[in-house]
Amino acid sequence: MNILLTGGLGYIGSHTAVVLQGAGHRVFLLDNLSNSRLDVAERIGRITGTAPVVEVADVLDTIRVRMMLRHHRIQAVIHFAGLKAVGESVAQPLAYFHHNVAGTISLLRAMADEGVRQLVFSSSATVYGQPQRLPLAEDHPTRATNPYGRTKLHIEAMLQDLAASDPAWRIAILRYFNPVGAHDSGLIGEDPNGIPNNLMPYIARVAAGQLPHLNIWGDDYPTADGTGVRDYLHVMDLAEGHRAALDHLGRTHQSCDIFNLGTGQGTSVLQMVRAFEQASGRPIPYRIAARRPGDVAACWADPTKAQQVLGWRATRTVHDMCASAWGFAVRAGGQRSCQEDLAHK
Ligand code: NAD
Ligand code: WQD
Repeated sequence: MNILLTGGLGYIGSHTAVVLQGAGHRVFLLDNLSNSRLDVAERIGRITGTAPVVEVADVLDTIRVRMMLRHHRIQAVIHFAGLKAVGESVAQPLAYFHHNVAGTISLLRAMADEGVRQLVFSSSATVYGQPQRLPLAEDHPTRATNPYGRTKLHIEAMLQDLAASDPAWRIAILRYFNPVGAHDSGLIGEDPNGIPNNLMPYIARVAAGQLPHLNIWGDDYPTADGTGVRDYLHVMDLAEGHRAALDHLGRTHQSCDIFNLGTGQGTSVLQMVRAFEQASGRPIPYRIAARRPGDVAACWADPTKAQQVLGWRATRTVHDMCASAWGFAVRAGGQRSCQEDLAHK
């Protein structure tokens, strides 16, 4: 199939491009480079043997998206493009509604006009808000607690309305839990600008000696060791989930469906610190700090529906997640210091 990946140069999009190319699909990436770099396409090429076609463009540019769908005879779209930082969404809600909600409307208009009606959408476990029960199944009530989460809920509702209006649509909404790790080559991974907000990239920077210590946000939660528990999911398992979702769209009669993508296992912050120390052979100094506002104590998926309907399950371990994240950090750190050397010359 010819598949368009919006936000395809980003963290999850780039790994999904690798998996889809490996499965024989032709992938086309559209990205505005707001949180990624063009050289990711060349790295995908080094892994798979073929660098994907990239167009530097914005999903808000409906005409440009239409041209891309038509020109490359796209049959399905995976929509990753969007903004994703919870704190930033509180400070700049309009930017989030613009890029995420208006961006999706623009994409859907282009798809409708060009007769492309297969879509996989990147949603998030954040739509469940404070869990009322664990594990979280798809029918758990939703309640966003910040503007970012609200954009995901608005988009989910729009997609359901659209599918109800025209049963020709085939839409899979994927609610990701906590994606971490990297491709085993170390060529692609998650490398946020500035000081990371998320646990895994922060730990990797501490292990690499680029940050002095990790702040653990609270050790007084009602969890086994008092630290927050999450369902961490290897990004390559997640990427394979997209392939399974696309295959499913080709055979389903349902116009819109929702799937959790997680492992079903919870891991605490302290367990993650220990696993990373083991995988990297480096100490991770940490300090216990106050709880981070808005954090929930524990959150993990019931992934049964994805197993039964998509035939997908996560297979990689927490050790695999840490080892691959460390492999990427070592390579990315080397590249960063190389660039700094060149900048000084
Ligand atoms: P990312 O920032 O690495 O990738 C997003 C990509 O989209 C970037 O390359 C960015 O340049 C591009 N982009 C942003 N706005 C755009 C626009 N208007 N037009 C074109 N390109 C645009 O993020 P990611 O972690 O790969 O996340 C991908 C999707 O998955 C996002 O929608 C995110 O909300 C969702 N998600 C991510 C996580 C996570 O923890 N990483 C969890 C749940 C859901
Ligand atoms: C994990 C655990 C922290 C950093 C976020 C978004 C969510 C989704 C995934 C997009 C928590 C603790 C973290 C640190 C710490 N993104 N922690 N010290 O908050 O579960 O989810 O990313 O959809 O919407 O909210 O992930 O990695 O930030 O935190 O102690 O420096 O690590 O308190 O228990 P989170 P995270």
